Amino acid sequence: MMLKRLSVVVLACLTLTACGGVDPNSPLGQRKTIFKQMLKTSEDLGGMLRGRLAFDGQKFADGAVKLDNLSREPWKHFPQVREDDETSARAEVWEKQTRFQDLARQLEVATAELVAVTRTQPLKAADLAAPTDKVEAACKACHTEFRNH
Ligand code: HEC
Repeated sequence: MMLKRLSVVVLACLTLTACGGVDPNSPLGQRKTIFKQMLKTSEDLGGMLRGRLAFDGQKFADGAVKLDNLSREPWKHFPQVREDDETSARAEVWEKQTRFQDLARQLEVATAELVAVTRTQPLKAADLAAPTDKVEAACKACHTEFRNH
């Protein structure tokens, strides 16, 4: 009985996207998923440098490549016109497209630089701090200007 009721609820969530709100296939859903992956990946890199996670040069290098690839992905999922709700993107994203795209490029440059630094193994954590900080600063700069909260 319980199981049956549970699956009805799950189905309702899938069809109406009533639980959590955002359709994962919508532009908003797609960019949110990418941003979350970016956060997870960059937190793992930062975690390895700050001692929260064990430092592993190969994992760090792989993470840098992953972040570099991800950093090129969210922008195409910002539609021509802002969604009315559910988005935490400020109207400025659409009003100041040049500036927004500029900050997107700055992130891509920073992640590419991080990848370049990780090409020569063995990696030393000390060499990675500055380029990793630069990536994190690029995330923050755009959020300060273009994200609500
Ligand atoms: C060029 C601007 C820009 C850059 C650079 C940027 N973001 Fe964002 N980010 C946004 C905007 C705008 C949103 C809001 C998206 C929405 O809700 O429509 C957002 C949302 C997010 C979210 C919330 C996703 C959710 O579930 O609602 C996370 C997490 C995030 N970004 C992580 C990152 C990380 C990590 C980086 C750097 C590696 C980064 N972002 C770089 C603009 C940017």
